[in-house]
Amino acid sequence: MKSKSNQDYDGLVTLAWQDNSVIMIDQTRLPNKLVYRKLRNYTEVADAIKKLRIRGAPAIGVAGAMGLALACIKSSSANKNELIVDLQHAYDILLSTRPTAVNLFWALERIMKVARKGKRVKEIQDTVVREVNKMAEEDIWINRKMGKIGSGLFKNGETVMTHCNAGSLATVGFGTALGVIRAVRESGKSINVIATETRPVLQGSRLTAFELQHDGIDVTLVPDTGVGVLMAKGIIKRIIVGADRILRTGHVFNKVGTYQIATLARVHKIPFYVAAPLSTFDLKSRAEDVVIEERDSKEVTTMVGRRIAPKGIRIFNPAFDVTPPHLISTIVTEKGLLKQPLSESIRNIFKLPMIS
Ligand code: MRU
Repeated sequence: MKSKSNQDYDGLVTLAWQDNSVIMIDQTRLPNKLVYRKLRNYTEVADAIKKLRIRGAPAIGVAGAMGLALACIKSSSANKNELIVDLQHAYDILLSTRPTAVNLFWALERIMKVARKGKRVKEIQDTVVREVNKMAEEDIWINRKMGKIGSGLFKNGETVMTHCNAGSLATVGFGTALGVIRAVRESGKSINVIATETRPVLQGSRLTAFELQHDGIDVTLVPDTGVGVLMAKGIIKRIIVGADRILRTGHVFNKVGTYQIATLARVHKIPFYVAAPLSTFDLKSRAEDVVIEERDSKEVTTMVGRRIAPKGIRIFNPAFDVTPPHLISTIVTEKGLLKQPLSESIRNIFKLPMIS
């Protein structure tokens, strides 16, 4: 599948709006099969987000927006008020799919705002469809911009570590953290990537290893438990990950395991970078108010359909963790690099008033 407007981008495109439906890669089938699914209504999109057929903060944001666009064009409402009621219903269902990545909320809000501005049903349907196409185009463009900005942080020939999947598959295309890695290579520098397996859902081995191999980028897969030894040996020169939500204090919510990698990186004096678009920032919430999704215990107790833990065992399976700002060297955004102190850089980039 090719990007509609980013014709120079020939990498994986994770989702697109096509003929009044949503086409997306079914990520649960990777790495064994690259299968595209066609989704025709918003409940199918909600289900795909819930079941991780599509995942990664920016990707679920655009997918959610496209789900809302499906609800909009399929609505049989006779006037604007009825249409907004239908959209609000779809909004609630789409938003309830996954609680942690703020991009979903951001994207759904953006569509509701566009819809509320219109006057007639047909006009609203047309503008909403235009908006989701714009969001998909912007996503790739923003990732490329972040890549260019972030690539300057890397030297030729370095080995870098990433966690989970913050690549093309977590976005519409190109990726955030993996976008920076792609841009390093595009700038003529060589780069070797260490991808963590990312238990229990294995986004690292199923998705990051797949997409880097797909693009011919040197990648080595390690179990999550191999992170410390690689750092201690001095092999890892830098670390770069994505984010699901960044607060105005600089706290970064990302895939569970990020916090322990950042902590180890500090011990070994390895720069720890986060790459995320401005749509990943939540300037209102406090860290204690953010809901960290807890997922089905079966993700931990079973593997390829086989039980790997005793029956009745108690399970804690959080999907995300929080990395405090002092462990983060730099945040790469499409508007530039955010340096320490992060709260001050975030305040400046968003032109926020001082908190009293
Ligand atoms: O549970 P997932 O696979 O949706 O989690 C994804 C991550 O944690 C990514 O690192 C994050 O969304 C950044 S993606 C650009």
